[in-house]
Amino acid sequence: TPRVFSGIQPSGNLTLGNYLGALKRFANSQNAGVESIFCMVDLHAITVWQEPQKLRRATRELAAGFIASGIDPQKSILFNQSQVPEHTQLAWVFNCVARMGWMKRMTQFKDKAGKNAEQASLGLFGYPALMAADILVYHATHVPVGEDQKQHLELTRDIAIKFNNDYGVDFFPITEPVIEGAATRVMSLRDGTKKMSKSDPSDMSRINLTDDADTIAKKIRKAKTDPEPLPGDAGGLEDRPEARNLVNIYAALSDQSVDQVMRDAGGKPFSEFKPMLADLAVDKLAPISTEMGRLMQDVSEIDRVLADGAERARAIATPILQKTYEIAGMVGAR
Ligand code: TYM
Repeated sequence: TPRVFSGIQPSGNLTLGNYLGALKRFANSQNAGVESIFCMVDLHAITVWQEPQKLRRATRELAAGFIASGIDPQKSILFNQSQVPEHTQLAWVFNCVARMGWMKRMTQFKDKAGKNAEQASLGLFGYPALMAADILVYHATHVPVGEDQKQHLELTRDIAIKFNNDYGVDFFPITEPVIEGAATRVMSLRDGTKKMSKSDPSDMSRINLTDDADTIAKKIRKAKTDPEPLPGDAGGLEDRPEARNLVNIYAALSDQSVDQVMRDAGGKPFSEFKPMLADLAVDKLAPISTEMGRLMQDVSEIDRVLADGAERARAIATPILQKTYEIAGMVGAR
């Protein structure tokens, strides 16, 4: 039976990229009736320094973002990673399965560690093994993510395959990355060749899920574009990264294909298309920001959701971890 798992780091500032690449699609899989497990990966967040006070707030705000995006904590499981210790326990086993060379090839590690890799935390290096454990400790079969997580999911498959081979079992499933739709890679509003990211120093480069209606409209009005009107069809977007990004965002927000959007908007100048996009974005995103604000007023409700989710997640993870230990020859495993 299919089971969906995905995670988001509580490292502040949920962006439109997180929404379109992840949250909105999570709500779809939940609503299609697939058992879905979603995790605030606080242990991944601390692979780079986090102020404890900020991490606490970001974790709760992320949970609020999930709920405000339409993820129902009754239907889906919502929890934070640190509260289900089986993730790190399985990650240790995977640390012993994965090879140093596999980790060294990870582009995200190279980007995040920068030139001074010797100063990066060991956790940042081992990050993908923990991510594989997040997924496989539930035997999840489908993992919806944005484009930037593709390499990590390939590594997850490699770890599952090597574990199964080493121990001669058919135990861990080979998970399917689910990277689909118009907005699997939302780009910066200031530079169409850079990913929209919560860590970009310019706040104008991204739309935050906590932005109010005026801020959203202003950021779209000021988004970088080239001077030409939109082309007549999707093919004409090829070499125009900024135009393509705005059209992709429009398509994803309105649940249309890029071709459909181009049928209505093709040939329009940005002076017409941007207000259309701003209206649509405000329409879809402002209610989320309002609901997040409401949920954050009394965090006890959020804390209850996370505690309940952790308990339900553990009930699935414990037997899978114990079986893993048994396969690996640990005495006492149940
Ligand atoms: P994170 O926290 O960076 O991002 C969360 C999700 O948002 C997607 N995303 C984007 N999608 C489209 N355009 C963008 N500009 C954009 N920016 C972010 C990401 O692809 C991701 O789906 N390693 C993961 C967290 C993680 C995880 C997991 C994911 C930990 N364990 C297990 C899936 C399964 C990360 O850092 O995502």
